[in-house]
Amino acid sequence: MQSNNLNLEAFFQHYRILIDRRLAQAIRPSAIAPSLHEAMRYSLLNGGKRIRPLLMLATVEATDGKPELALDAAAAVELIHCYSLIHDDLPAMDDDDLRRGKPTCHIQFDEATAILAGDALQTKGFELLANAEQFSETTRLRLIQCLTQASGPLGMVGGQAVDLSAVGKRLDLLALQQMHKMKTGALLEACVLMGAYCNQLSNGQTVDTLRRFAADIGLAFQIKDDILDVEVDTATLGKTGGKDAANQKPTYTSLLGLHAAKVKADELRINAIDALKSIGLEHSRLAEIAHYVVDRNR
Ligand code: IPE
Ligand code: IPE
Ligand code: MG
Ligand code: MG
Ligand code: MG
Repeated sequence: MQSNNLNLEAFFQHYRILIDRRLAQAIRPSAIAPSLHEAMRYSLLNGGKRIRPLLMLATVEATDGKPELALDAAAAVELIHCYSLIHDDLPAMDDDDLRRGKPTCHIQFDEATAILAGDALQTKGFELLANAEQFSETTRLRLIQCLTQASGPLGMVGGQAVDLSAVGKRLDLLALQQMHKMKTGALLEACVLMGAYCNQLSNGQTVDTLRRFAADIGLAFQIKDDILDVEVDTATLGKTGGKDAANQKPTYTSLLGLHAAKVKADELRINAIDALKSIGLEHSRLAEIAHYVVDRNR
């Protein structure tokens, strides 16, 4: 298995440029209605961390493949993620007016345009995968199945439904964990699996172990998001801090307190790196990403 010679920040910088280029290409067609097109560009090409595509490319690298070959799949996941953010911010959902340091899509444009921009980014994501001719048809189908499952009613969308129905309620820890795994963990897990699939790895011990790693960092990612909402200022976050409490959302910090939420995120990081150890990847970029997920400040 491959180790790496770029440090994490250099890897992120290098591949963010390629991911952003691929995303810009993906929504270039000029036949898109101008107002819709502008909203799509606004919410896609706007400085997100790109952690999901980067995680996918790091998985490709860690399993001895070439990250460049997986750029379509990486862009597809970011398209789905950006759609989910536009809809998450809508008045009917979290009702947020700041995202990535700018007015949210429905504030900048209007609600109908924001709904449609989200829909359009979503379908573009699946179109990219369907058209990714560098992969065999079997691989393309596997990628599409993985991403539909992770982003659909048993994954992200289902988690968002639970999140909305839990407003003002106290979930028990198991229910909260399940919600976080669905609304956020599932898509991060898909990034790792899709990275393996891009590299012709579809089952066996490596894939099973990568899945365990991904499940841990996927949950840790949302726990950290809950922590950041409490601890970090709006300017650094690029979204309004303290919003979970204002919206009466059950979170790891509201249920367990800040300290125990941090302990849980740390435990998940340790478990994730332990999983990597069992397949000789504890010094890979994936281990660095596990640290990044828990130590990031936005
Ligand atoms: C925010 O995701 C929404 C969650 C699922 C927690 P990110 O923290 O990855 O947001 P961007 O893409 O960097 O803006
Ligand atoms: C979002 O969770 C999960 C998604 C599927 C978009 P949050 O509602 O906590 O994300 P932020 O904090 O608004 O980015
Ligand atoms: Mg939300
Ligand atoms: Mg939100
Ligand atoms: Mg949040």
